[in-house]
Amino acid sequence: MGPSTACLERLIGMGGKLYIETFGCQMNIADSEVVASILADAGYELAADAASADLVLINTCSVRDHAEQRVWGRLDHYRGLRRRKEGLAVGVIGCMGERLGRELLAHPAVSLVAGPDSYRDLPSLAARARQGEKAASLGLSETETYDRITPVRMGDPALSGFVTITRGCNNFCTYCIVPYTRGRERSRDPFDILAETTALASAGFREVTLLGQNVNSYLWKTGENGPSVRFSDLLARVAAAAPGLRIRFTTSHPKDMSDDILHTMARYANICRHIHLPVQSGSSRVLKLMNRRYDRESYLDKIRAVRSILPGCGISTDLFCGFPGEREEDHLQTLELMKTVRFDLAFMFRYSERPGTYAQRHLADDVPEEVKLRRLDEIIRLQNRISLENNRADAGKTFEVLVEGNSKKSKDMLFGRTSQNKVAVFPRENHQKGDLVRVTITGCTQTTLIGVAAPEPEVSAGEPPGSRQPADEEA
Ligand code: SAH
Ligand code: SF4
Ligand code: F3S
Repeated sequence: MGPSTACLERLIGMGGKLYIETFGCQMNIADSEVVASILADAGYELAADAASADLVLINTCSVRDHAEQRVWGRLDHYRGLRRRKEGLAVGVIGCMGERLGRELLAHPAVSLVAGPDSYRDLPSLAARARQGEKAASLGLSETETYDRITPVRMGDPALSGFVTITRGCNNFCTYCIVPYTRGRERSRDPFDILAETTALASAGFREVTLLGQNVNSYLWKTGENGPSVRFSDLLARVAAAAPGLRIRFTTSHPKDMSDDILHTMARYANICRHIHLPVQSGSSRVLKLMNRRYDRESYLDKIRAVRSILPGCGISTDLFCGFPGEREEDHLQTLELMKTVRFDLAFMFRYSERPGTYAQRHLADDVPEEVKLRRLDEIIRLQNRISLENNRADAGKTFEVLVEGNSKKSKDMLFGRTSQNKVAVFPRENHQKGDLVRVTITGCTQTTLIGVAAPEPEVSAGEPPGSRQPADEEA
């Protein structure tokens, strides 16, 4: 028997110390801030570490098996901590919570599980868990967008913040677990998005990133016949409402990345010149099996549009090898596409079969592990070479860098990011965190630009003349 309702009411507000450990994508980082806000209203304060907390929440990711294995490992660690610390409750939230609710709850370390749409239930779930019950809430919602909740900012104070604009995903790429763990796509009220963004600007933040699994399909309908707000409209409104903030957004889906969005980016100097455009594979045959709804040619058309409308724009991507049925010729097409586009940065993976997805149900995971590893190695080697060459081509150009802090290697150097999202380091002189500094590039490594603060303004932010053109091997 659990506590009576009256007793529970009292416990919900009892508060305590909360520690959140976050895995996975930026959506999870943003969600942890929402969770901290909901629990702050129930009296919880953030603890410096798990050992001093009354409630530990692990915000988890299911996108690849490896991500889940790491969390199982953490749970074994927390099992030990719970033995040493009486009264500590440990919960699993996020995508893995949604996917494996009951299985997780059976783990001796876990007394609470909540999925991404259930965070408003956390105060009562936490109260029950701390009374020794096992408590879970896993329903997915078609409407929950956590409006009117002001996230507790846990990142670098007053520098860069996330603002969620869509939740869930409707795309059902055949390999992907996200539509199952986060449910249907819904867009947030633009009024809330603007309020959150301008609040960040007033609090001294210098940059926001608009977040969603597919931000390009953002759509808000005002009433029955009222005007609708598309992503390009929202982007323009945010950029105009917060001219002192750098605006970023992620993730873009190639099928929805319209020229409209590129023209909006071109109109506002405070929208960063960077697009993360996951390609996944260079083979049209594989892209079709993945249900990506674009092919190699239309992806390359998009890249050409970016290069012509936004010269000097940074482009990054996600891709993975070893999708079911991927042949050597498909893999070679991925390598060729990488050589054509010349991405500045890529997040590179090998296929991990996810239970319940279309691919798991209908397509055999038939690329041998050693072949996946060899293909991934070829992809990584090629990308490393291209990243280095791209960075070398930045020598002599001047970029506006938002300073994030001291460089890891030297206290005399600062590091930050260019509008194109490249990391740059330069001598501190009299600059500090939060400054926007024009930096002229003098050298580089594969991952970092090295430069010096430019003496006086020469060119506009991040758009050096004569910047890199697309390679034309396949044009
Ligand atoms: N919504 C984004 C990203 C989602 S997950 C998009 O549509 O691009 C981030 C990346 O993980 C994906 O872009 C993909 O490259 C990779 N990924 C997703 N599922 C995967 C799987 N089952 N195996 C390997 N990589 C996967
Ligand atoms: Fe997954 Fe595709 Fe949705 Fe991205 S767009 S979250 S890869 S289903
Ligand atoms: Fe992982 Fe969920 Fe994000 S599966 S990538 S945490 S949406």
